[in-house]
Amino acid sequence: MKDIQFKITKNEQVNQDTIRLVITADEKLPAITAGQFLQLEVPDNTLILRRPFCIYDYDGYSITLYVAVVGKGTEALKKAKVWDALKAILPLGNGFFNDGSSDAELLRSARNDGRSFGFAQDDKKDDKGGRQGGVPTWIDEYKNIGILGGGIGCAPLYRITKDYPTKNFFAYLGFNTKDRILFTEDYKKTCKKLVITTADGTAYEKGYALDYIKKDLSQLDAIIMCGPHGLVKAAKTALADTKIPVFVSLEERMACGVGACLVCTCPIEVGGATKNKRVCFDGPVFSLQEVIV
Ligand SMILES: Cc1cc2nc3c(=O)[nH]c(=O)nc-3n(C[C@H](O)[C@H](O)[C@H](O)COP(=O)(O)OP(=O)(O)OC[C@H]3O[C@@H](n4cnc5c(N)ncnc54)[C@H](O)[C@@H]3O)c2cc1C
Ligand code: FES
Repeated sequence: MKDIQFKITKNEQVNQDTIRLVITADEKLPAITAGQFLQLEVPDNTLILRRPFCIYDYDGYSITLYVAVVGKGTEALKKAKVWDALKAILPLGNGFFNDGSSDAELLRSARNDGRSFGFAQDDKKDDKGGRQGGVPTWIDEYKNIGILGGGIGCAPLYRITKDYPTKNFFAYLGFNTKDRILFTEDYKKTCKKLVITTADGTAYEKGYALDYIKKDLSQLDAIIMCGPHGLVKAAKTALADTKIPVFVSLEERMACGVGACLVCTCPIEVGGATKNKRVCFDGPVFSLQEVIV
């Protein structure tokens, strides 16, 4: 984890309330794992706390973020100019693969059969921070992986599909309306199947992505998901009986982002007991089975 000085190198509006931000550092970025996030300074002197955003994509020096403009901090980011300087702490959280030290137990239980995962203890990274393969991780045990995303929650799931070109990814991305649809061109390139839904039926399939992934469960070995609270809650019920491991990336309000303040704690059920876990440090990725919603 490192506090790094960045400059904004792109800031474009991609729909009514979302911007795509590319930030570039002078120094080489530390290795990043799919599903990790950063804490970004916002260009407003009245806002001291940094804001958490998932790392959508990255190369050796640059990071791409998609930011939904929902309040003062994200509004300030929308107004920021190219070459404005911002600091960010990264990489944060466990991501979809970790070194096995912090939450091995949580991830193991997602599989429901008690076998342990092979974590990437000393996994190799290529010079762009991506994975080179080599040491097995949990994903190496699965071939057909479902991606379930809702709205801006589709963002943290993209990089995993890019990092593993030999896997079959089946993506189910849900949006409220046609003009909120994002990320489709990227996912088209990396996924074997892509189902896009709109709740109001203004484009693609009408309804909810969860209903479509449910129809294809027999083809899937594992699911990774992220989205609004309502989606996590509905998935918890709808996928309760499946033996497929489901990994969910949670969002909580955060302050420090590094495990020190306890602002982001949420209850997680571990082995029949409820424990408070810090989403920023123990997560944001948990087993859906263990999340209490
Ligand atoms: C690990 C993580 C990854 C995230 N990744 C992204 C991302 O890639 N893109 C993106 O647009 N947003 C992401 N978020 C949510 C983002 O951090 C918040 O929307 C942002 O901090 C709001 O800042 P603000 O100052 O504009 O809003 P505020 O004025 O602080 O709040 C405005 C509204 O946003 C809600 N809100 C604030 N913080 C959060 C939060 N952490 N989670 C959910 N709702 C929140 C508030 O309840 C309120 O309704 C992520 C959050 C977490 C915890
Ligand atoms: S935000 Fe401080 S402990 Fe998670």
